[in-house]
Amino acid sequence: MVTVIFLFSICYATFFTFGLCDAVPLSEIQALTSFKLRLHDPLGALDGWDASTPSAPCDWRGIVCYDNRVRELRLPRLQLSGTISDQLANLSQLRKLSLHSNNLNGSIPPSLSECSLLRAVYLQYNSLSGGLPPSIVNLTNLQVLNVAYNLFSGKIHGDISHSLRYFDISSNAISGEIPANFSIESQLQLINLSYNKFSGEVPASIGQLQKLEYLWLDSNQLYGTLPSAIANCSSLIHLSAEDNALRGLIPATIGSIPKLEVLSLSQNELSGSVPASIFCDVLGNFSSVRMVQLGFNAFTGIAKPPNGAALVFWRS
Ligand SMILES: *[C@@H]1O[C@H](CO)[C@@H](O)[C@H](O)[C@H]1NC(C)=O
Ligand SMILES: *[C@@H]1O[C@H](CO)[C@@H](O)[C@H](O)[C@H]1NC(C)=O
Ligand SMILES: *[C@@H]1O[C@H](CO)[C@@H](O)[C@H](O)[C@H]1NC(C)=O
Ligand SMILES: *[C@@H]1O[C@H](CO)[C@@H](O)[C@H](O)[C@H]1NC(C)=O
Ligand SMILES: *[C@@H]1O[C@H](CO)[C@@H](O)[C@H](O)[C@H]1NC(C)=O
Ligand SMILES: *[C@@H]1O[C@H](CO)[C@@H](O)[C@H](O)[C@H]1NC(C)=O
Ligand SMILES: *[C@@H]1O[C@H](CO)[C@@H](O)[C@H](O)[C@H]1NC(C)=O
Repeated sequence: MVTVIFLFSICYATFFTFGLCDAVPLSEIQALTSFKLRLHDPLGALDGWDASTPSAPCDWRGIVCYDNRVRELRLPRLQLSGTISDQLANLSQLRKLSLHSNNLNGSIPPSLSECSLLRAVYLQYNSLSGGLPPSIVNLTNLQVLNVAYNLFSGKIHGDISHSLRYFDISSNAISGEIPANFSIESQLQLINLSYNKFSGEVPASIGQLQKLEYLWLDSNQLYGTLPSAIANCSSLIHLSAEDNALRGLIPATIGSIPKLEVLSLSQNELSGSVPASIFCDVLGNFSSVRMVQLGFNAFTGIAKPPNGAALVFWRS
């Protein structure tokens, strides 16, 4: 009985204007209408976005509803230009926002973090600029953040959500250091920071990331030595940091990463001997590594394999 009264009062409070409990709240329709008003839509993709359609906005192009709330907003590849309205914050049940491969400009409205259930944000291939709002990078439920190929700048402030699995911010102009406080609880499987302006050293805390499979750090301004703790990333398949200013030795521990397939460290200032452990283990067995790119460094040679066996550089 208590439950029934409680539900009734929520419906009543939210929808009393219509006397309905099975329609999308007017605030969500208004939020989408304001979103549309900020856009230029040369293909007329949003022409059918009409508040008087039978089940607006759930029958609009790009909208997915669940339980009469907007769950997904998906409008990729439609030549949309203009800015992302901060009114999207009113879509409080939004799980997925996909606006990639358009011509959007302006910044990501920080108010979007009010959509606290957001799991996936796809904004790659636009002309968005400004900083990445810390409140969004730290959204509790966020699993995918792809903002690659935009014009984002500034530093990464604050924490990275522990739920994040896929973090692609490549091909922007983001600067500062790589965040140094990765934790063992992190779910990160892919980190792509390539083609930015990151500087400083690769933090040893990256060794905390037990689920990390892909680490792309190419074309930044990273310096210092690669931390040997990176070998602690037991799931790592791909490690690339080409075109930086890394110095010193390649940590021999890299050879002990069980599933590593690609190691790309060309165009740095690495020196000393390339550890043979990258290619084979103490028994002379091949490692899992399929591709090694080490050109344009200052290596003096390749260390003798642990068992004195001949080294084979390429194999498929
Ligand atoms: C969105 O919510 C804010 C308050 O959080 C309110 O001021 C604004 O009018 C709402 N916008 C729409 C379109 O409902
Ligand atoms: C977005 O692009 C339009 C058209 O080029 C331009 O007029 C506007 O100033 C830009 N807005 C922002 C916030 O960059
Ligand atoms: C992690 O580092 C960032 C700066 O890179 C800082 O803003 C944040 O508070 C740190 N978080 C923790 C839990 O230490
Ligand atoms: C990030 O989110 C976590 C969990 O919601 C919170 O404990 C932490 O204080 C937040 N960090 C920042 C820098 O806002
Ligand atoms: C990482 O980013 C670079 C540059 O944007 C891109 O070429 C590469 O394909 C990305 N890697 C993955 C796994 O997405
Ligand atoms: C290596 O991984 C273990 C968990 O397997 C973790 O407890 C430890 O802190 C990690 N060490 C470094 C240097 O990241
Ligand atoms: C390594 O090689 C030895 C002998 O060449 C073989 O007996 C052993 O099974 C191999 N180990 C692995 C993990 O492949």
